[in-house]
Amino acid sequence: MMSRRVNAVSPSATLRISEAAKRFRREGKPVIDMSVGEPDFPTPSFIIEAAYRAMKEGKVFYTPSRGIPELLEAISEKLREENGVDFAPENIITTPGAKYAIFEAIMSTIDEGEEVILLDPSWVTYEACVLMAGGRVVWVPHSEDFTDAPVEEYITQKTKMIIFNSPSNPLGVVYPNSFLKKLRDIAVDKDLLVMSDEVYEKIIFEGEHKSIASLDGMLERTILINGLSKTYSMTGWRLGYAAAREEIIKAMAKIQSHSVSHPASFVQYAAVEAIKGDQSFLKSMVDEFRTRRDMLMEGLDKLGIKYAPPKGAFYMFMDVRQDSMEFCQNFLEKEYVATTPGAAFGKGYNTWVRVSYATSRENIREMVVRLERFLQ
Ligand SMILES: Cc1ncc(COP(=O)(O)O)c(C=O)c1O
Repeated sequence: MMSRRVNAVSPSATLRISEAAKRFRREGKPVIDMSVGEPDFPTPSFIIEAAYRAMKEGKVFYTPSRGIPELLEAISEKLREENGVDFAPENIITTPGAKYAIFEAIMSTIDEGEEVILLDPSWVTYEACVLMAGGRVVWVPHSEDFTDAPVEEYITQKTKMIIFNSPSNPLGVVYPNSFLKKLRDIAVDKDLLVMSDEVYEKIIFEGEHKSIASLDGMLERTILINGLSKTYSMTGWRLGYAAAREEIIKAMAKIQSHSVSHPASFVQYAAVEAIKGDQSFLKSMVDEFRTRRDMLMEGLDKLGIKYAPPKGAFYMFMDVRQDSMEFCQNFLEKEYVATTPGAAFGKGYNTWVRVSYATSRENIREMVVRLERFLQ
């Protein structure tokens, strides 16, 4: 009865773990959930107040499908000033979460049989969207230090797009400019699109974020993805966006206008304030993530566990040297710590596990104690 499209994707491998974690928590077990991909800070109050004000002012009705003009303008200005990329409001669409922007962009550009390059490991949703579009995923392994990948060796006549995410989920890697330039050269030479997912751009501990769209020749080829979930602790508000050449944005707008219409009206008004407002809260959030990362690295170093050294986002990808699904299940059942199996993120990391340190220092300390006990 079900379509080929939906049969092409498996239910989320991570769902089973998080459902079990919730069940244990309901039973009163001391669960530490390090599987979640969301900041554990409240949304800044000035943003909450802006949403409330919008609702009180009656801004609760349908909006233009791509978003209210004020928001498209605010995003355009942000991209110009912070990222050095000149996308006009016509080149922008706001969506209910960055995830839906990714879905729309892939549905708009990938046909049956076309190939999309993903770096192994990559965030789970890219593969699912490509498969739903009927495309084929081509996994490219990373170099040993996770800062490079031999993408050029995997390009074929059918390659249409390269997707990458910096800072990366699950690696925490901030790709160096040399890698961005290499991707640019390949994309220009082979006439490819690049989807650049920049949702963690503000959560960086070392190095700086640079959008590949800002490199010569890339404005026309990049589908830049971003959103408010991670930067502003707004995962549940659902506000993301894409910037790309107009033809792509128009195609995405077709899907959006016939599906979800637009992101919630008052969320859009609050988003204008978020983007234009005082960004000083960010420093303390990033400082806190840095402290937690350092604590976790110290703990893993003591246990002799290998990991990809994270320079951004809030994930640690570590090699547990055993089947990752089994590890995650057993670690949860025995020590009540929820983590995400590396097998979910690609092909070559079946013994790796993703740990999110978007949780308290106390939980991180306790997790290291439980991990040591578990591994003994
Ligand atoms: C790399 C990456 N891109 C996009 C998203 C989706 O974010 P949103 O909440 O805006 O849909 C996530 C969320 O986990 C993510 O990790």
